[in-house]
Amino acid sequence: MLKTLAELERRREAARAGGGPKRVEAQHKKGRLTARERLDILLDPDSFEELDMYVEHNCVDFGMAEQVIPGDGVVTGSGTINGRLVFVFSQDFTVFGGSLSERHAQKICKIMDMAMKVGAPVIGLNDSGGARIQEGVASLGGYAEVFQRNVLASGVVPQISLIMGPCAGGAVYSPAMTDFIFMVKDSSYMFVTGPDVVKTVTNEVVSQEDLGGAISHTTKSGVADVAMEDDVDALLRTRQFFDFLPLNNRDGSPYRPSADDPARIEPSLDTLVPPSASKPYDMHELIRKVADEGEFFELQPFHAGNIIIGFARIEGHTVGIVANQPMVLAGCLDINSSKKAARFVRFCDAFSIPIVTFVDVPGFLPGVAQEHNGIIKHGAKLLFAYAEATVPKITVITRKAYGGAYDVMASKHLRGDLNYAWPTAEIAVMGAKGAVEIIFRGKSAEEIAERTAEYEARFANPFVAASKGFIDEVIMPHSTRKRIARGLQKLRSKRLENPWKKHDNIPL
Ligand code: HXC
Repeated sequence: MLKTLAELERRREAARAGGGPKRVEAQHKKGRLTARERLDILLDPDSFEELDMYVEHNCVDFGMAEQVIPGDGVVTGSGTINGRLVFVFSQDFTVFGGSLSERHAQKICKIMDMAMKVGAPVIGLNDSGGARIQEGVASLGGYAEVFQRNVLASGVVPQISLIMGPCAGGAVYSPAMTDFIFMVKDSSYMFVTGPDVVKTVTNEVVSQEDLGGAISHTTKSGVADVAMEDDVDALLRTRQFFDFLPLNNRDGSPYRPSADDPARIEPSLDTLVPPSASKPYDMHELIRKVADEGEFFELQPFHAGNIIIGFARIEGHTVGIVANQPMVLAGCLDINSSKKAARFVRFCDAFSIPIVTFVDVPGFLPGVAQEHNGIIKHGAKLLFAYAEATVPKITVITRKAYGGAYDVMASKHLRGDLNYAWPTAEIAVMGAKGAVEIIFRGKSAEEIAERTAEYEARFANPFVAASKGFIDEVIMPHSTRKRIARGLQKLRSKRLENPWKKHDNIPL
């Protein structure tokens, strides 16, 4: 018996050794942790239960029969984060560069299937040279098996991807179909084709970092949500992020007791909106003053900054925040901000997370580039997402709500449950000056000025909309948190269903 136990221990040791001390050292030299070290930080102490530690690849080509490492380049299993169940896979770059073989893929698929069965999120730690080149099509098939599960799991359990090393070729498409992507600065890359292929095909010379590094993807492309400082930062912040998420689509949003009084009054909000309509202010201030303990986990903070998205808690319950940001492009909606917010709204709706929307929007961004790149279709994504969402929706208009953007931003007409406005709100088809210049084209400057004042007096307030019932109440800015908290309490038992359909056809 003792001999058998010793054999088990020997086998475990062999699997834990991964690609051996030299490759582990090389991994550390790049500032990266190993697959198992990462799991140690991500998961609660002693909670990790590994599966498939002894799985080996089945490839015999190119001398692979002689190179067999138990576990085959990915560590899989389950554990807990602050006591809540999660399934994980962590690719081991020290074993064949973390490349994906048929068996490696099977391991990932197994934990995804289990996560779906029991209703728990999946977190993937990606660090891989892509398809295992020696295996050819078997590896491609493996990827597709993972892709299929990503799609089936979408909207059922949250899926988070951490990119902690290279992620090239088809390997990027599994993370792309997950809900959130966090990258590590100066250490992770995502691209469909790398710099060498780019040079051959388009003659463009670009570094890995510029093409697909964390900064590029969290500023320009918007592919990734947050750029983390290093492995440890990424893992610790993922733990923090995980606490906001429900475990599955039937779980309801998680609750964390809070000592922050839901009726807290914030007198400083009464002067947040500057007297001049053209002066910006930082919408983050409102978000933090409304949120429990001022905590806000912002997603995509450096991409399409004209809209802010992220999670906060109110009275201990997670809420999704969507807010126009007057500091960037005056808070207008454009292609990138519409796409960014639409996907977030859909995540919240899929996982029953109430949505709180703060509105200060002068309209859609005009311009040839916007039109030719499809602002109509992309703007419609956000409109569609809000309109189909059945979760509790509370909207607060702080200042401008002009034109189509008024409709889009969780208006009453899109089944907003509680639509509030501050006394500073202006709800109109467009700004007074623009409106008058159209209606009174050709009139004298004096008359235009007079009519502008008249238009402002009529529409630069929330009361016309309130008189029609489009605004439920004009609230004091200082009581915003209290009103939202009460509203969310009321709406906790909300039941609303869309008509039966196979699925909708959101304008992609
Ligand atoms: C097998 C691989 C591998 C791969 C790396 N290795 N990538 N083994 N298949 N795809 C092995 C190396 O042979 C090496 O083994 C070890 O991993 C470390 O690799 P290095 O090159 O020494 O590391 P580094 O210099 O850090 O470079 C990392 C890298 C590079 C940028 C990822 O290895 C690379 O370019 N690899 C190939 C990437 C690629 O083209 N993949 C296929 C993409 S196409 P030893 O034994 O020396 O430690 C694809 C299609 C999927 O993925 C389609 C799905 C639809």
